[in-house]
Amino acid sequence: MNRRRQIYEGKAKILYEGPEPGTLIQYFKDDATAFNAQKKGTINGKGVINNRISEHVFTLLGHIGIPHHFIKRLNMREQLVRQVEIVPIEVVVRNVAAGSLSKRLGIEEGEQLPRTILEYYYKDDALGDPLITDEHIACFGWASQEEMHDISDMAIRINDFMSGMFAGIGIRLVDFKLEFGRVWENDFSRIILADEISPDGCRLWDIATNEKLDKDRFRRDMGGEVEAYQEVARRMGLLPEGVDSAVLDLETHRKKRGK
Ligand code: TMP
Repeated sequence: MNRRRQIYEGKAKILYEGPEPGTLIQYFKDDATAFNAQKKGTINGKGVINNRISEHVFTLLGHIGIPHHFIKRLNMREQLVRQVEIVPIEVVVRNVAAGSLSKRLGIEEGEQLPRTILEYYYKDDALGDPLITDEHIACFGWASQEEMHDISDMAIRINDFMSGMFAGIGIRLVDFKLEFGRVWENDFSRIILADEISPDGCRLWDIATNEKLDKDRFRRDMGGEVEAYQEVARRMGLLPEGVDSAVLDLETHRKKRGK
């Protein structure tokens, strides 16, 4: 792994140079952070599960015509992706009030929103990813109007698809975060979906019980995060093959804690 040139290390992933120009290898770590890395920890086997979940979701999104960076999964923790010029905007899609929306506007968590909300945050750790509007994006040239049109259009389509997909396995898609990138073809660029889609960047609640099956378990010190991520993967039909080490990690973890 260390033979490859590391391009970037983020909070939950490492990007290495890929085998061909224009490709990268995306490595999924077990590291978990919250509140702009003020809280740090590990979720055993998370990288393995997120790699698999993200592969699955991106593949399905490809089938409905969403252009994306995913090429193929290489192994338990790595996937081959297209290199993109990342758009410095985190796109949050909300269907149900939760998290920072509830805090900011005093709306009770769990309240169904009368319509889906798209929010944009400027990707800058030093500033703590501040909430921004289209005006800031246009003013500072972070993306063109045409690009924002494509981004918001894709975000809504992704939300519709994912809401249905999760509803089919008894999960409510409360909110989630997306990142997009530019790929250049000759002198033209176009926008494709990048990063990952996993319980790290989604709020996923059991439809029947409202049990949280996502990173809020870590953010809010609820415990059971490994089991929650595994439950999502299991319902998606992804557990039987490919995540043996995550299961093993869980076993080791349990033994260590004497359970
Ligand atoms: P928020 O309610 O904290 O703003 O989060 C909204 C959604 O975006 C939630 O599903 C978690 C996800 N998210 C990230 O993936 N990364 C982040 O840095 C933040 C703040 C949120």
